Amino acid sequence: AGQFAVFGHPISHSLSPRIHQAFARQFGLELSYQTIDAAPAAFASAVREFFAQGGAGANVTLPHKTAAFEMADVRSEAAVRAGTANVLTPLPGGRIAAHNTDGAGLVRDITERHSVDLRGHTALLLGAGGAARGVAWSLLDAGVHTLTIVNRTPETADALADAIGDPARAHTRYWEDLADLGAFDLIVNATSAGVLGKSLDLPFAVVGNRALCYDLSYGAAATGFLAWARTAGARYAFDGLGMLIETAADTFELWHDKRPDTDPVYAELHQQYG
Ligand code: ATR
Repeated sequence: AGQFAVFGHPISHSLSPRIHQAFARQFGLELSYQTIDAAPAAFASAVREFFAQGGAGANVTLPHKTAAFEMADVRSEAAVRAGTANVLTPLPGGRIAAHNTDGAGLVRDITERHSVDLRGHTALLLGAGGAARGVAWSLLDAGVHTLTIVNRTPETADALADAIGDPARAHTRYWEDLADLGAFDLIVNATSAGVLGKSLDLPFAVVGNRALCYDLSYGAAATGFLAWARTAGARYAFDGLGMLIETAADTFELWHDKRPDTDPVYAELHQQYG
């Protein structure tokens, strides 16, 4: 069923090959799915080379998601909103299509795997970079009551709120004022602090009594935020492993026109990485 790859830098620890191979086995498909490490300056040419050699689709992860969006000729609405892409698919004539499955994957993980209905939730989004932009619109689409965006650099949060353009529901506050904002039902950590090995300075007061705390990263990068959430009394504390698997399922369906069952893949990987 073709050749696929995930591009990142670094990339050797990516779970994407295992996830796509597990999905392929559900349908008896044979596919090749490799990891390709490309430094930022080499990224776009590496993708073009991969497609020229017959590659049928590429996932893209840090730090290339913005470059992936920019190199594409055709962009889905989800990609345009985020300004980033995690999926590139070759089109006839050497053109490339960009899509972003991050927001849909996050919402499906929360609402379906973890069975939490987001409608009416007050949501706090920590961070305003590529990861935050990838999920903000999907949280609003899922029916959160309000989305409060807080970023270390306030200008970036303001730019995201302006891009959303729904001031009654999506607005910004200052990080320094977090202790005075009251309690939230949903807190999403979309900062890269954990990946960078840094801890966040967060007051317990933001955690409401039914709060769901979610870190978009998984494994070691998420442990600091999740430990904070549990100490603060959050009802739920989840890392982004389920989101990663759901985003892969959307990608798999886009490429193979088949909907994989994510539950067994989550069960297996959660034992090792959750
Ligand atoms: P990503 O693609 O992971 O979102 P990014 O676009 O570089 O990466 O965005 C990183 C986000 O994490 C930003 O919101 C960043 O805040 P700034 O805009 O102020 O840089 C946030 N971030 C990174 N390290 C942080 C830290 N130690 N404390 C708080 N926020 C941090």
